[in-house]
Amino acid sequence: MRQLIAGFFIMCLPALTLAAGGAGIPLDHMEPDHANKSSLQRGAALFTNYCMGCHSMEYARYKRVANDLGIPEELYEENLIFTGAKIGELMKISMDKEQAKAWFGNPPPDLTLESRLRGEDWIYSYMRGFYKDESRPLGVNNVVFSNVGMPHVLVDLQGLCAVEPQIGGRASVDPLSGSVVNDTVCPEWATEGSMTPKEYDAAMYDLTNFLSYMGDPVKLERERLGLFVLIFIAIFFVFAYLLNREYWKDVH
Ligand code: HEC
Repeated sequence: MRQLIAGFFIMCLPALTLAAGGAGIPLDHMEPDHANKSSLQRGAALFTNYCMGCHSMEYARYKRVANDLGIPEELYEENLIFTGAKIGELMKISMDKEQAKAWFGNPPPDLTLESRLRGEDWIYSYMRGFYKDESRPLGVNNVVFSNVGMPHVLVDLQGLCAVEPQIGGRASVDPLSGSVVNDTVCPEWATEGSMTPKEYDAAMYDLTNFLSYMGDPVKLERERLGLFVLIFIAIFFVFAYLLNREYWKDVH
C-alpha cells in the first residue's frame, strides 16, 4: 500500500513542476488552435520575416512545416526561405552564437521547443510585454522577462509603450465614471505602430499559435488517433466482457 501511495506521488511530480513554472508573473491567456491553418500560415510568415534573423528552429525541417501548414513547397521555398537552404533541410540560421552573446548579452535561443518550455500564455504575453526603458542598453524592457536582451523587433508594428503594459489585467467598468478601464494592454504610447492594438494582438495570436504548433507538430494527429483508440477499446470491451462471461459460466 505504501508503495502504491509513493508511486502515485511520483506520478504527480511532472504536473507539480508545470504548475510551478507559471507562478509569479500574471499572463494573458491564448488558446492555440493547430487546425486553423491560415493562422499558422500568417504566424510562419511573421516568424520568418521578423524572428529568423536571430532565432533558429533547428529541430524542424522546412518541408514538414510546409506540408503541415498546407503551403506548396515551391511557394515556401520562394517566399519563406531566405538562407538559400533547400526545402528538405533543418531550419538553421547563420548567426554566430558567440558574437550574438557579445551583442545582446545572451545568444538568441533556438525556439523550436519554446512553447513546451514556457507555455503559450507566456509567449503571447511576452510578445506584448515590451515597453520603453531608457536605463536598458537597447532602450526597452519587458514586463514578462525583465531586463531581457532581445530588442523589441516588432516596434514598427506595435509601437512602443511608454509605461509598463498591463499584462494579465482584466477589462472592467469603473463604477464611478462608468468608463471601461484596462481594456487595452498599453494605456500610453511613446511611439505609435502601423497596427492597431487589436490587430497586433491578433498577429501575436498567430505567431504564438505557430510556435505552439512547432513545439508539438503531431498534436492534431495524436488527438485523431486517440479517438480511434478509444473507439477500439469500447468495441473490444464488449467482446472481452462476453468472453469473460463465457469462461466463468461453469465456475460456481
Ligand atoms: C535581433 C535579434 C533578435 C530578433 C530579430 C528576435 N529575437 Fe527573440 N531573443 C533575442 C535574444 C538576444 C534573446 C535572449 C534574451 C535574454 O536571454 O536576455 C531572445 C529571447 C527570446 C525569447 C525568450 C527565450 C527564453 O529565454 O525562453 C522569445 C520567446 C523570443 N526571443 C521570441 C522572438 C520572436 C517571436 C521574434 C520575432 C518576432 C524574435 N524573438 C526576434 C534576439 C532576437
